[in-house]
Amino acid sequence: MIQDNELTGPAEPTATRRTADDTESSRASRGWWDRNADEYQTEHGGFLGDDRFVWGPEGLDEAEARLLGPARALRGRDVLEIGAGAAQCSRWLAAQGARPVALDLSHRQLQHALRIGSDFPLVEADAGALPFADASFDLACSAYGAVPFVADPVRVMREVHRVLRPGGRWVFSVTHPIRWAFPDEPGPEGLSVAASYFDRTPYVEQDENGRAVYVEHHRTLGDRVRDVVAAGFRLVDLVEPEWPHWNHQEWGGWSPLRGNLIPGTAIFVCER
Ligand SMILES: C[S@@+](CC[C@H](N)C(=O)[O-])C[C@H]1O[C@@H](n2cnc3c(N)ncnc32)[C@H](O)[C@@H]1O
Repeated sequence: MIQDNELTGPAEPTATRRTADDTESSRASRGWWDRNADEYQTEHGGFLGDDRFVWGPEGLDEAEARLLGPARALRGRDVLEIGAGAAQCSRWLAAQGARPVALDLSHRQLQHALRIGSDFPLVEADAGALPFADASFDLACSAYGAVPFVADPVRVMREVHRVLRPGGRWVFSVTHPIRWAFPDEPGPEGLSVAASYFDRTPYVEQDENGRAVYVEHHRTLGDRVRDVVAAGFRLVDLVEPEWPHWNHQEWGGWSPLRGNLIPGTAIFVCER
């Protein structure tokens, strides 16, 4: 007997809100990023630049923001980039004289890092179980890597804390929590509150067998502060980049229209 999907192809995933534990979230992320890395790099690679350090769709650049510290604080430093994708940020760090290690869960994303060219280590691993000895790094960073996709962010925070040396900085960007309350649309339809900001139920896309193929986890701003503090970090800044006048580009639900009204990205600057 011919199955339906032999005629029509695999069914489109359906979006829902339900719980998803760490294992399911991790498996979904690896699969999704392996399948979508090519499209992601085609669509966003130009904006990200091969060797720029961009914190998010607003285009805030570490060359100006200096959230990891002044230029002299990078030279000769061991830096771990988590959820590095094609390692654009690590390439910028290497050009500043740092010694980056780029880690990502997705093999295909790291193949893009190889394609662009990397003279630093690329590590395929989960942010929740970092394959490094204690106190291996001076700095750690992540531009939208891993943190929004894990069920247990405190586990990631603790792992980063463990591999950092005392005094080390951990700077990471995530979707600004306020966006959870709005539809993920760049136009006017994305300007009206449609869901509770306080509802932490994950956003899950699942296949016809109910298996998660994409998961995003929501934390409120207060939750994220408590996560970093619970892991032993001191929060020294929380940056909400404003949409700059030069950026006319839409990135999914991020757009100049919304960016001028509500924050799209939150960047946490922490110290060990
Ligand atoms: C939005 S991309 C960001 C990549 C890069 N920083 C950039 O700005 O293009 C998110 C990345 O996080 C990675 N990722 C998701 N979950 C992860 C996890 N649990 N551990 C490590 N990396 C993860 C994905 O594979 C993907 O490359």
